[in-house]
Amino acid sequence: MSEHVKAEIAEGVMALTLQRPEKKNALTGAMYDVLSDALVKAEADTSVRVILFQGDGDSFTAGNDLADFASQARGENSVDSPAHRFIEIVSKVTKPLVAAVQGNAVGVGTTMLLHCDLVYLADNARLITPFVNLALVPEAASSWLLPLRIGHARAYAMFALGEPMEAAAAVASGLANAVVPQSELRKKALDAAIALTKRPAGSLSLTKKLMREHQRIAAQIAAEGQLFKERLRTLEAREAFAAFAERRPPDFTKLSA
Ligand code: COA
Repeated sequence: MSEHVKAEIAEGVMALTLQRPEKKNALTGAMYDVLSDALVKAEADTSVRVILFQGDGDSFTAGNDLADFASQARGENSVDSPAHRFIEIVSKVTKPLVAAVQGNAVGVGTTMLLHCDLVYLADNARLITPFVNLALVPEAASSWLLPLRIGHARAYAMFALGEPMEAAAAVASGLANAVVPQSELRKKALDAAIALTKRPAGSLSLTKKLMREHQRIAAQIAAEGQLFKERLRTLEAREAFAAFAERRPPDFTKLSA
């Protein structure tokens, strides 16, 4: 499949592989669209029993493409974005979602994991949610789901200070299932996905439904989405995106909220 995302179905598993390693698998609008369309297809396709996310290269994903954010901030394209559509779809998938994460998982790279059912980390994995550093707010219901999983203080440090969470800590705090050497990551995740394909699909989807508060998640995504759109158009966000492009630290001190 084009647009830096490959979708392959084998043994009942749809593997969605991010393939933009030269940009740390940063997600463009086109990539989100491919992912969203694949998830919709997977839900409808009875030959798909489990969906697996993985990324080529040294990073799972550097999150949303910051050049896309910058153009949204300048009003050049809609803020009703493919990213928002992806978040809505991934949060509603009824089939099991498995993720294999190496290196950096930034922004949506971490928040999408809160919607996955099994998460395997390479020993070099780092979960990073630097929304405040980018003058944004958390997304994908992470403002509710992350503190629910790891407590307010640690979640706040991740959101507000951009503190990374290392792989071992992520497993210890319940964000992931296991840490494995990077060379074993894909196999570990695929084996787990294949194991799930052999379980009764009806029971799996009901179990997932019982474990997730769908209405609460949808409401949080909507509330965050509104604020996120507003934040993208602020001077603070423009400064953050310009700073990334110019490879310098942002300076928010002369800007008001
Ligand atoms: N959007 C667009 N391009 C990105 C990107 C992103 N989110 N993350 C990395 N890239 C690009 C870099 O601009 C660079 O491109 P270039 O080679 O053309 O200059 C390339 O990917 C490699 O990135 P680099 O920063 O040199 O790699 P690194 O190993 O030093 O750092 C990260 C990796 C992920 C820590 C760092 O790139 C980063 O912080 N990225 C931004 C993450 C982010 O804030 N995402 C949004 C979350 S909401």
